[in-house]
Amino acid sequence: MFLLGLQKKIMNNKTFMMIKPDAVERGLIGKILADITDAGFKIIELKMVKLSLDDAKRFYKIHEDRPFFDDLTTYMSRSPIVAAVLSKDNAVDEFRKLIGSTDPNEADNGTIRKKYALSKGENSVHGSDSNENAEIESNFHFS
Ligand code: RTP
Ligand code: MG
Repeated sequence: MFLLGLQKKIMNNKTFMMIKPDAVERGLIGKILADITDAGFKIIELKMVKLSLDDAKRFYKIHEDRPFFDDLTTYMSRSPIVAAVLSKDNAVDEFRKLIGSTDPNEADNGTIRKKYALSKGENSVHGSDSNENAEIESNFHFS
């Protein structure tokens, strides 16, 4: 019982995030990383990289049939991003709370997207939406 609880806690303690091109272009890397560490996340892995259009298409493959796919992949590959693996208890949900809704107009006050995002498309940060995707996305960038 104790070991099961411990295993669940370990599986729940990591997420993957990106600071997207619109935020990197506007010099917001430092401010966003400070918001993340101030909220109690530890940075486990960190790198700045420019995705190719093909990288962006592979990363966001689950959205390939959506009308915004071309805009999304062009945007994500137009200039560098910062990728990171973060740890905290309940990391996936806690990080989604910290970044706020996809559309900054719907995001709560104090969230990263409310503070910095330009639009629903150019919304400054990505956060994994499940433990399974956190692992897949971390391996995409840090394998
Ligand atoms: P993310 O995966 O980047 O953390 O964002 P999310 O879960 O909040 O939103 P998701 O539905 O997964 O969409 C992925 C990204 O696609 C862009 N998008 N544009 N113009 C639009 O209607 C639209 N909808 C989504 C955003 O960059 C969104 O974060
Ligand atoms: Mg998503």
